Amino acid sequence: MRCPPLPPRPLLAALAWGLLSAAGPSGGASSGPCPAPCTCDGDGGTDCSGRGLAALPHGLSAFTHSLDISMNNITRLPEDAFKNFPYLEELRLAGNDLAFIHPKALSGLKELRVLTLQNNQLKTVPNGAIRGLSGLQSLRLDANHITAVPEDSFEGLVQLRHLWLDDNNLTEVPVIPLSNLPSLQALTLALNKITDIPDFAFTNLSSLVVLHLHNNKIKTLGHHCFDGLNNLETLDLNYNNMVEFPEAIKTLPSLKELGFHSNSISMIPDSAFIGNPLLRTIHLYDNPLSFVGNSAFQNLSDLHSLVIRGASMVQSFPNLTETSNLESLTFTGTKISTIPVDLCQEQKILRTLDLSYNNIKQIPSFKGCSSLEEIYLQHNQIEEIREDTFQGLASLRTLDLSRNLIHQIHKEAFTTLGAITNLDLSFNALTSFPTGSLSGLNQLKLVGNTELKEALSAKDFMKLRSLSVPYAYQCCAFWSCDSYLNSNTEDSSHQSQSQSVSNDQGTSDTDALNGDENEELGQTIIHCTPTTGAFKPCEYLLGSWMIRLTVWFIFLVALFFNMLVILTIFASCTSLPSCKLFIGLISVSNLLMGIYTGILTFLDAVSWGRFAEYGIWWETGSGCKGAGFLAIFSSESAILFLMLAAIERSLSAKVILKKGKSNHQKQFRIAATLAFLCALVAGCLPLFHKGEYSASPLCLPFPTGETPSLGFTVTLVLLNSLAFLLMAIIYTKLYCNLEKEDLSENTQASMIKHVAWLIFTNCIFFCPVAFFSFAPLITAISISPEIMKSVTLIFFPLPACLNPVLYVFFNPKFKEDWKLLIWHITKKNGTGTVAVNTQGGCGTQDFYYDCGMYTHLQGNLTMCECCESLLISKPVPCKHLIKSHSCPALTVVPCQRPDGYWSDCGTQSAHSDYADEEDSFVSDSSDQVQACGRACFYQTRGFPLVRYAYNIPRIKD
Ligand SMILES: *[C@@H]1O[C@H](CO)[C@@H](O)[C@H](O)[C@H]1NC(C)=O
Ligand SMILES: *[C@@H]1O[C@H](CO)[C@@H](O)[C@H](O)[C@H]1NC(C)=O
Ligand SMILES: *[C@@H]1O[C@H](CO)[C@@H](O)[C@H](O)[C@H]1NC(C)=O
Ligand SMILES: *[C@@H]1O[C@H](CO)[C@@H](O)[C@H](O)[C@H]1NC(C)=O
Repeated sequence: MRCPPLPPRPLLAALAWGLLSAAGPSGGASSGPCPAPCTCDGDGGTDCSGRGLAALPHGLSAFTHSLDISMNNITRLPEDAFKNFPYLEELRLAGNDLAFIHPKALSGLKELRVLTLQNNQLKTVPNGAIRGLSGLQSLRLDANHITAVPEDSFEGLVQLRHLWLDDNNLTEVPVIPLSNLPSLQALTLALNKITDIPDFAFTNLSSLVVLHLHNNKIKTLGHHCFDGLNNLETLDLNYNNMVEFPEAIKTLPSLKELGFHSNSISMIPDSAFIGNPLLRTIHLYDNPLSFVGNSAFQNLSDLHSLVIRGASMVQSFPNLTETSNLESLTFTGTKISTIPVDLCQEQKILRTLDLSYNNIKQIPSFKGCSSLEEIYLQHNQIEEIREDTFQGLASLRTLDLSRNLIHQIHKEAFTTLGAITNLDLSFNALTSFPTGSLSGLNQLKLVGNTELKEALSAKDFMKLRSLSVPYAYQCCAFWSCDSYLNSNTEDSSHQSQSQSVSNDQGTSDTDALNGDENEELGQTIIHCTPTTGAFKPCEYLLGSWMIRLTVWFIFLVALFFNMLVILTIFASCTSLPSCKLFIGLISVSNLLMGIYTGILTFLDAVSWGRFAEYGIWWETGSGCKGAGFLAIFSSESAILFLMLAAIERSLSAKVILKKGKSNHQKQFRIAATLAFLCALVAGCLPLFHKGEYSASPLCLPFPTGETPSLGFTVTLVLLNSLAFLLMAIIYTKLYCNLEKEDLSENTQASMIKHVAWLIFTNCIFFCPVAFFSFAPLITAISISPEIMKSVTLIFFPLPACLNPVLYVFFNPKFKEDWKLLIWHITKKNGTGTVAVNTQGGCGTQDFYYDCGMYTHLQGNLTMCECCESLLISKPVPCKHLIKSHSCPALTVVPCQRPDGYWSDCGTQSAHSDYADEEDSFVSDSSDQVQACGRACFYQTRGFPLVRYAYNIPRIKD
């Protein structure tokens, strides 16, 4: 709003003032004209603001022409308050608590031009007081509580140019009072409660240039409400409740600036601005626009900026014929699918083009828009960048093409973009990226192009500060461009950890700069994401030697001992008892885990010092998937088998206690199959979920800090925890029962103990892994990835090497199995024939292996020999067995049945399941030795003992 310069003051006043000021000290408070609390500037201006005055100060000079009494405590202006100031031109009364102004309070102020009454308590326009102020040019009545504007309020204010009525309590436009203001140039009615603008509301304000109506509750506008405002240039209708486009603006031929943002307008019709050819600015954001007429913005040759967002019903690009001076064009969130080919023939001075969030599939050449500085095309469906697309855009600084479907960029596409600093190509389908000629880039985003696996060279991006790449390994080249890829350049080894990169000091463009700048440029910090680190190592997969040696150790031990256990358990080809079967199956699982660690050690060795080159290939390849599958499958199956073993133990212990008999072998085999299938599913699930196994080079969906989806991991860990809990409960119960019955020396004791040890150790090692899988969920815990990696690499496969070691060294069964195995091998080499039996196949070997001494019952002497040789090597308590089997060459030793007697014998016969039955049988028998022998035999056959006793004669036949 322009304030015209005040006209020269009356000569008389000037002269008088000049005389006065010449007479006394200028502005002196002591002199008559300037009262104590005020300051006078010696030029007729008196400032009494903020002095806490409760009434007008006394003793003001009659020649005062500018009086400021604002920010005081004056609540009322009495009659003739200013009658002694005929030359007053400016009166400031803002910020008092003025509630009452006497109709004659201002009378006599013929010269008054400026009156400010804002921030008072006025409830109505002081019509009487201001009526006669024919010289008034500016009147401020804003920030009062004005509800009513009397009809005669502004009568006679023929010179008033600026009127402030904003921030009041008006509910309607004071049409009649306003018609008295033929000179009004600026009017604000903002921040009131006006609900509608009637027709011809401003009809006599032909001088009005600025009209503010924002922050009202305007819902409807009469179609002729702006009639007569022929000179209006600025119309502000922002923050109202309009639901329809204000058609009334068609009658504003001079309109240059229009704002109706933050309304509820949903549609801008065709030819909306046809009456406003001079429009320069249109603010229409924050409307729920869904439709924009195609021709709405035609013929607006002064329009500089056009911003349309979210008009979701718009299907085609707006027709911008003759609207050719746009500097900024924003059209986002629509359904536009094509950009007119001639866009850049029309828009020659376009600097910003934002067409993001549309459905654009093809982009034309932007060749003509040579002023373009920013192009935003993210979230479209662009598939290809052709050679000529961005050709010649020498001013382009920012180009955002993220989240499109770009799979191909012509290798010359960016060559002429000399000024480009920000390039965003993230989340496309790129397989390669033309690096040349982008050396000026500050920021480059390539993240989300999962097929972009090629390495980037730091040399191509000398000025890069921020980089995001699909794979962390691509950052390696930027951390330390010299550390391993370029061994020819200098001092870099210590920089490799600091994640900062120093540009090559010797290149030509830095040479051109002076030394200091050179230093600074050299220290450019590159921020590269995703960050490399323990789980994305640039150089060595297994990081430190401590981890490496441990993993090697685990691998070798797991491999050797698991093979050993598997060999001894399965080589015999007997029909295994369930418990042993489970121990064997656990070993198989552990062996697979061993193979998994073996893969890692092998990979570490192969990629020695250059893991970055292999990382992407490994993580995205099927090798990683396979390894991940192995790891998850083996760990899951081991836990499930262990749980089955625990259940089996507890069940068979129950059988002992109840002296009953039960054979769950079949059920357990089915359960084992189910467990196998479960583990298979667990291992396979991540295969179908992209990225689970490729989150880290360890190929586990386990803690990597940035796991894609924690859901799977957490579920898995929770289930495993549950399994361990179950085992713990089963076993606690089992031990409680056992203690009551005191079966410590039972033949089953060793297996029960063994399983207990397995549960204990596996659970211990499971805990840290479980904890770390939850760690990413608990943000409060921040664990360094190094530690997480070490824990994962060591504790995860550790049970796999410990389980078989426990079995081999602490389980007596292993020794026996081992001896049998050795004997089996040597015997095989010797006599060769074991093929004895009626049953054939495995049944024969079963026999042979377990209690061959009973073969005499079937009349086979060869078997007897085997038995003898075995028995001879056995401790004394078992030799009693020999007699009953007609092995004549041997001495008969009475069966003494010391404590642990069956324990030993039982282990010999390897079928501890029936130990309880043996017990009972023996105690009933008078002939311990024979009974013992028979029992042993029948056990080997897997028959229940009682039935046995009846069957003996038949078998002897
Ligand atoms: C105005 O008057 C009130 C009491 O009526 C007083 O508390 C306040 O301090 C005064 N304001 C000024 C600025 O002196
Ligand atoms: C505003 O005007 C309404 C009537 O239009 C009245 O009820 C209300 O009290 C006024 N508010 C103030 C702060 O004066
Ligand atoms: C507009 O002003 C003219 C005088 O300038 C007056 O005659 C006329 O009545 C006014 N119109 C309205 C609607 O008040
Ligand atoms: C845009 O409008 C002009 C005149 O209204 C018309 O001649 C032209 O064909 C239109 N352009 C398109 C692409 O529809």
